[in-house]
Amino acid sequence: MLSATMPRTTNQGLLDWVKEIQDLCQPDSVHWCDGSQEEYDTLCEQMVQAGTFIRLNPSKRPGSFLARSHPSDVARVEDRTFICSRRKEDAGPTNNWVDPREMKATLTEHFRGSMRGRTMYVIPFSMGPVGSKIAHIGVEISDSPYVATNMRIMTRMGQNVLDALGDDAYVQCLHSVGAPLAPSQEDVPWPCNKDEKYIVHFPEDRAIWSYGSGYGGNALLGKKCFSLRLASVMGRDEGWLAEHMLILGVKSPEGQKTYLGAAFPSACGKTNFAMLIPPAEFEGWELTTVGDDIAWIKPGADGRLYAINPENGFFGVAPGTSYASNPNAMRTILKNTIFTNVALTDDGDVWWEGMDGEAPAHAIDWTGQDWTPDAGRPAAHPNSRFTAPAVQCPTIDPDWENPDGVPISAFVFGGRRQTTVPLVFQSFNWSHGVYLGATMGSEMTAAAFGKLGVVRRDPMAMLPFCGYHMADYFNHWLKFGRELQNPPRIFHVNWFRKDDDGKFLWPGFGQNMRVLKWIVSRVHGKAYAIESPLGWVPRYEDLDWTGAEDFGFEKFDTLMKINREEWKQEALGHEEFFFGLLDKLPREFTFERELLVSRLWRSPDHWHLAPEISE
Ligand code: GTP
Ligand code: SPV
Ligand code: MN
Repeated sequence: MLSATMPRTTNQGLLDWVKEIQDLCQPDSVHWCDGSQEEYDTLCEQMVQAGTFIRLNPSKRPGSFLARSHPSDVARVEDRTFICSRRKEDAGPTNNWVDPREMKATLTEHFRGSMRGRTMYVIPFSMGPVGSKIAHIGVEISDSPYVATNMRIMTRMGQNVLDALGDDAYVQCLHSVGAPLAPSQEDVPWPCNKDEKYIVHFPEDRAIWSYGSGYGGNALLGKKCFSLRLASVMGRDEGWLAEHMLILGVKSPEGQKTYLGAAFPSACGKTNFAMLIPPAEFEGWELTTVGDDIAWIKPGADGRLYAINPENGFFGVAPGTSYASNPNAMRTILKNTIFTNVALTDDGDVWWEGMDGEAPAHAIDWTGQDWTPDAGRPAAHPNSRFTAPAVQCPTIDPDWENPDGVPISAFVFGGRRQTTVPLVFQSFNWSHGVYLGATMGSEMTAAAFGKLGVVRRDPMAMLPFCGYHMADYFNHWLKFGRELQNPPRIFHVNWFRKDDDGKFLWPGFGQNMRVLKWIVSRVHGKAYAIESPLGWVPRYEDLDWTGAEDFGFEKFDTLMKINREEWKQEALGHEEFFFGLLDKLPREFTFERELLVSRLWRSPDHWHLAPEISE
């Protein structure tokens, strides 16, 4: 057992807060996390004893564990997520809001005694490299050892953070699984509260209270709650951006390095794009990974934008990850990884749908039951995930921990759309680009509870993560670009367009390099494009098809088609979304929408790349 430890800090505010929470939640003991390997190993072993962790076969998956959550606790709960700003209008119509005093009163009663029978972990963590000027420190108090171990991978965590904090302020992150134990009550492998969950943000207090869930973004409070919802508010107040973006480095054979930020909604390909390996024909191109989920972006003294990845690890979607789709991710998770809700093979390794090779003849599924390929249900939960240290990624960028960040030359937005949206197009200018991001639509995935496959507007992939009024956020974006000498170019992509038989039209994954090369070349003024009703688009010959010559003009043309009727519906969808934001909607958006409609009105029913200008 881990012994209860004494705090090693003189931060009186922190000591007082920990005491206050201890008195409220009444844990059996308090453990201040030092972040050491020894502490991590002890916690893992303790969870193996408790049945929360299964140690994977050390010869197959050294230092790795499998956790299975309760079936009611498998994804983010957007309908239970609240932005409790003092004024309702600061949360805006896209967020749930409750008066902060009322919410605190309600939650205080939930937290009262909620840690009985458990250890309370005090987890000091830094988002961004410890001690760096752009990093921000938080302290999570949690009654979950699963959270403590995951936080050690996902953030910089431990005593050195307390030392760096000194007597300064920090973001208060309070978390309880909401499952107190009576004196002789036996624990369950995945304690959580089946009936009540609350993921609550108090932006003015820079505080987060999370109750009832132990899973992912609900419980690892440094991630979505701090680094997106609270940080977006900090960015609004202080002049920077906190975005749901991967950061990717691209080095051309000539040695020119370009960094991009890309915002795709949850489970829509950020991890894959961040770790992209180009097809063999793209010899000399080097792609590197800075981050796969979150970017903090600030203007530098030279008038350019600089981005850091505040995280220290990847909490990536397992299903679909394979040596064929994402070899870098597969190599990242070879060791020291926590898997949650994947299947367990008979030889003590992990498996999920979409992994290379044959499905195992037998496995234990994510619910702990026997599974065979004819079971008629997936072995891994669709939102099963791996938690792995970023340093284990073979393509991690040499500057990924540079405290000044990396310079960003382009933003890419992209949703999951079976129809309507072409493979790639570029905005005409900054305000048009912000409009493209703001009106992005995407089909819902298993990353959050909701209606799978239904298209919803997910502006900048931030719908579930923006901590303030969405229209204020749009204005912040517009202002941000106006003040830059040379703002990044903005692109829109869609890897997910399907044919009439429901098959993907675009091979995706490594093949996305062909689109990426065009994007990078456009940034440097080296690639051609023509005007379409939606923006600048490449002709067939503007993409590099070396090694994919069988992907002919016809197929590309189908991918790039713009159907006027579909886009009429799309423009109506923009209008409908704007309706709720009208009082604060930027003037630019009204004009951008009218311009879009005018361009569509003039265009043919089926706009496509005419072969004569394309060959
Ligand atoms: P979060 O971690 O939830 O924010 O998501 P993410 O955007 O990092 O998701 P991830 O990269 O893990 O996406 C996972 C899903 O996208 C899997 O189902 C993949 O198969 C699919 N995917 C990723 N890239 C492509 C692609 O280029 N084409 C197609 N068709 N699917 C892709
Ligand atoms: C997402 O849903 O966008 C994630 C996973 O990155 S979680 O951290 O659980 O929110
Ligand atoms: Mn995400």
